[in-house]
Amino acid sequence: MSSIEVEDANELFQAQAHLYKHVLSYMSSIFLKCAVELGIPDIIHKRGRPVTLPELVSALEFQPNKRNCLRRIMRLLDHSGFFSTTKVHNSREEENEAYALTSASKLLLKDKPYCLSPFVLLVTDAAFITPGHYLSRWLRGNELPDPFVTGHGINIWGYAEQNHEFNNLFNQGLASDSQMAKLIIKDCKHIFDGLSSLVEVGGGTGSFARIISEAFPSIKCSVLELPHVIADLPETDNLKFIAGDMNQSIPSADAFLFKLIFHDYDDEVCLKLLKNCREAVASSDGREKVIIVDIVVNEKKDKPEITEAKLLYDALMMTCVPGIERSEKEWERKGYSSMLVSLATK
Ligand SMILES: C[S@@+](CC[C@H](N)C(=O)[O-])C[C@H]1O[C@@H](n2cnc3c(N)ncnc32)[C@H](O)[C@@H]1O
Repeated sequence: MSSIEVEDANELFQAQAHLYKHVLSYMSSIFLKCAVELGIPDIIHKRGRPVTLPELVSALEFQPNKRNCLRRIMRLLDHSGFFSTTKVHNSREEENEAYALTSASKLLLKDKPYCLSPFVLLVTDAAFITPGHYLSRWLRGNELPDPFVTGHGINIWGYAEQNHEFNNLFNQGLASDSQMAKLIIKDCKHIFDGLSSLVEVGGGTGSFARIISEAFPSIKCSVLELPHVIADLPETDNLKFIAGDMNQSIPSADAFLFKLIFHDYDDEVCLKLLKNCREAVASSDGREKVIIVDIVVNEKKDKPEITEAKLLYDALMMTCVPGIERSEKEWERKGYSSMLVSLATK
């Protein structure tokens, strides 16, 4: 074989590895989901030191014949940065692997202020994955709004209304994402200063609004949501829940907060939502504002891992809702900024 052919072969094998890595990467998600379901991060955390494979097998009450499968699950999750593995020796000088948490798996610990396990369980749920199998059929077709409807016969909000378990999964998943806002809310004082009322539109079970209501007790916060999402939720003096449809109307307030709402919809719907805000502005003294908390794709500014996370989120928005993750230009181009100005000058 000539050296050129060897080079070609190497390149092709490299390309094959690249292809296999990407086409099989869903198994990383599946293993991570499995680790969350088994509570592996919590088991390691409770020990307060790296946990050996036999200890993990015993804590999980697995049959000994599952030990090797567990080792292989931990091996992939180590490779993808969720655990770190060291070798330890027991009193009989036997060598064992021991697993420690990494900063990524520390985000999976239950009973911690920032626990994203519910988000992992949500996005790896079959209901979220199924629509991807209908993407090409949906792209060729001309009618249904998104592949979720093609696959499930109903849109995601209707599906959540009909499936109690998925509704809980969805609400808990998004609520866990909102908890991360605690990290920055104190730095955002200037955004909330001077407001007397705020409506979080499509605010789920109020996880984000609760953080705001606690950080800024003088603001009367309310959450506008679909009735099945907010049924029986506890209210406080400055946090109320209002059942309604944001496409119809939005309750009156100084400020309107949209967290991860605009990315669910095309521009036409987003502009309609902003118009509904304009109708609902409580005061016209310069305090009124729309606060959008959403994803901005910025390949130049972000690290590659952040861009990849945003592009994957965009793929989720394409398959599960008629939505999109917008670039900075797309946010600007579609006139959202001028909408905000006209709101302020109403
Ligand atoms: C992507 S989730 C975002 C939830 C929340 N803002 C968060 O970030 O945690 C979209 C939310 O919009 C709500 N929603 C969908 N359609 C709605 C409508 N027509 N009126 C009010 N809320 C709606 C859903 O129930 C869901 O909770």
